[in-house]
Amino acid sequence: MAAYILAIDQGTTSSRALLVRQDGSVAALAQEELPQHFPASGHVEQEAEDIFGTVLNCCRAVLAKAGATASDIAAIGITNQRETTLVWERATGRAIHRAIVWQDRRTAEACAQLEADGHGALVNARTGLLLDPYFSATKIAHILAAVPGAREGAETGELAFGTVDSFLLYRLTGGRAHVTDATNAARTLLFDIHRGEWDDDLLALFGVPRALLPEVKDCAADFGTTDPALFGGPIPIRGVAGDQQAAMVGQACFAPGMVKSTYGTGCFALLNTGTTPVASSSRLLTTIAYQIGGQRTYALEGSIFVAGAAVQWLRDGLRIISTASESDRLAAQADSGQDVILVPAFVGLGAPYWRPEVRGALFGLTRATGPAELARAALESVCFQTVDLIDAMRADWPDGDTVLRVDGGMTASDFTMQRLADLLGAPVDRPVQKETTVLGAAYLAGLECGFFPPPDVFAGQWRLERRFTPQMLPEVRAGRIAQWRDAVGRLIGGV
Ligand code: G3P
Repeated sequence: MAAYILAIDQGTTSSRALLVRQDGSVAALAQEELPQHFPASGHVEQEAEDIFGTVLNCCRAVLAKAGATASDIAAIGITNQRETTLVWERATGRAIHRAIVWQDRRTAEACAQLEADGHGALVNARTGLLLDPYFSATKIAHILAAVPGAREGAETGELAFGTVDSFLLYRLTGGRAHVTDATNAARTLLFDIHRGEWDDDLLALFGVPRALLPEVKDCAADFGTTDPALFGGPIPIRGVAGDQQAAMVGQACFAPGMVKSTYGTGCFALLNTGTTPVASSSRLLTTIAYQIGGQRTYALEGSIFVAGAAVQWLRDGLRIISTASESDRLAAQADSGQDVILVPAFVGLGAPYWRPEVRGALFGLTRATGPAELARAALESVCFQTVDLIDAMRADWPDGDTVLRVDGGMTASDFTMQRLADLLGAPVDRPVQKETTVLGAAYLAGLECGFFPPPDVFAGQWRLERRFTPQMLPEVRAGRIAQWRDAVGRLIGGV
């Protein structure tokens, strides 16, 4: 029997490939940075060939590291940065425009106009999303308007649209599969999450021709087979999910009420609401958590755009640390008498504020403020934003778990995890398996091909590495949260 699942994790800032064994452990890993382009304020782009090229390199590297061949791989599972938008020529697989990344704000005005024209309620009712440039539809419309001939090509079916998963599937299968999965489709603003279908009213509203769109499948399904020329033999592709949903699967949050929060470039908290979509009264998103065996499971999602990116700012912008892990040590040295607050709205604010046009600010600076206080403010900003999300979730779903399962790069920071528990006033659970997103993608592929056991057995294999319990006095906690909310309120003019 084949020894591994090959999991591909195409994230915002890097591509990775991992070989996952049947016990869930990682046998080999390869990673490449993905170049980012910032051609104008609020614009974030990536080259489609970099996306595919880095994935291909990583897959080949990881096979070589393990001395494995295509026949050692039971199946491929793919997880990806969501919403990022590509339009390509079917004949060549070449993109006609750089990928417009989820963080890109160039369609903020178009979204505001649609909102002013009264379309917000319909969009929210069908998709569970809000009219924000974060999602794909206005990005597609932008590409069709910006590239000469693109609209005609879209209508005649010469062009194809996809999120990153769909583009990778197209290229990995040598152009034979134009498909996506329900979790990625649910992030486009074009997909009715209740019926599980592309929606004609929304296609008309955003001016997106149906001929552009991929077929939508379950997360564990037959997504095609790789072009044999790529890896010296064909490999079946059997699992796909957006990275936040894959993390939810990897964290085994299968029961209604379970919550996970993933700290990558941004931070995304998802609460499993079972088979019924729950409409949010707190400006959270309603989304598809996963779709298995034709059955959709829904989630409430809080999305914040800057988490690990705040640590990158300390490193690359302020240059007060040289590696991300130094932020912990530096923050621990901060003067406890200074209350410096960073609102890291570098690309606007996501949930629950949804203000794409605001930019970041620092509050409470004194003559004594130095690198340690800024490092602490950056790490705490991630915690404060999580508190906002979890409070919103508790308002929408009062019976949810009080324990938060966390994963992603920033969870390596003990300082941040302790501060998170303190500010939440609730336990934070960090699992043994840190590669939760990858494990989720591998699990979906392995479930489909019989490599991994059913969900209840898999959930029983989840192991706690460390629980962080709140130690802050309730009045201190309340005071700190009030300071954060005051800072956000001053920035956005009252919340
Ligand atoms: O919605 C965007 C999200 O999928 C990106 O995730 O881990 O690359 O920050 P990440």
